[in-house]
Amino acid sequence: MQIHIITVIPELLESPLQHSIMKRAQDKGLLKVELHHLRKWAVNEYGQVDDYQFGGGAGMVMMPEPLSKAIEELSAHTKFNEIIYLTPDGDRLDQHIANKLSMKENLLMICGHYKGIDQRIRDKYITMEISIGDYVLSGGELAAAVLTDAIGRLIPGVLNDETSALFDSFQDNLLAPPVYTRPAEFQGMKVPDILLSGDPKKIDEWRHEQSLDRTREKRPDLLQEDGA
Ligand code: ADE
Repeated sequence: MQIHIITVIPELLESPLQHSIMKRAQDKGLLKVELHHLRKWAVNEYGQVDDYQFGGGAGMVMMPEPLSKAIEELSAHTKFNEIIYLTPDGDRLDQHIANKLSMKENLLMICGHYKGIDQRIRDKYITMEISIGDYVLSGGELAAAVLTDAIGRLIPGVLNDETSALFDSFQDNLLAPPVYTRPAEFQGMKVPDILLSGDPKKIDEWRHEQSLDRTREKRPDLLQEDGA
């Protein structure tokens, strides 16, 4: 999979995508992330990419020309399955969206800044608008990093133990069960006996029960979604 990201602050994306599982995905050649500095397509020698908004009001708007040129130039080399704009008024990211996007080959993400991007770019080029939650970030970069991570770890072969993504929270609309490691007793608190029993069937049943209990308690809305 190739993910291209257009941004005015590539530095914000470099570190999050160069460690841990995202690094492994790229080292294995399963994921390629390319960052493109929007200023390369600026309208003048000062690197201008934003301007005042028509109708007045505080805050700058990202101009259509640089974004249009960037999208056209990158699209001439790569046929993008989706052109995604990260924005607080987009569809809320969830595991279902991450699963679907992890099956695509080429994605282009656009990070907004200031008051956002000119509406005409949204109308003409953007095929998906995604928000990572109901709060406003200073720009789309951290949202693009979150989206890339959520997608990248799902690409087959990225995780060591392929089944581990299957048991993540949300994969079947359930939260993940509690987990324990050594020591078996810590400050007087014991690991549940069942996990030490060596009986895989019983352990699976216990985990499923725990997942259901947790979901009922913390996120009953997920069970409703499933029709359960
Ligand atoms: N840009 C600013 N805030 C955002 C959010 N919550 N999600 C996606 N992109 C954003």
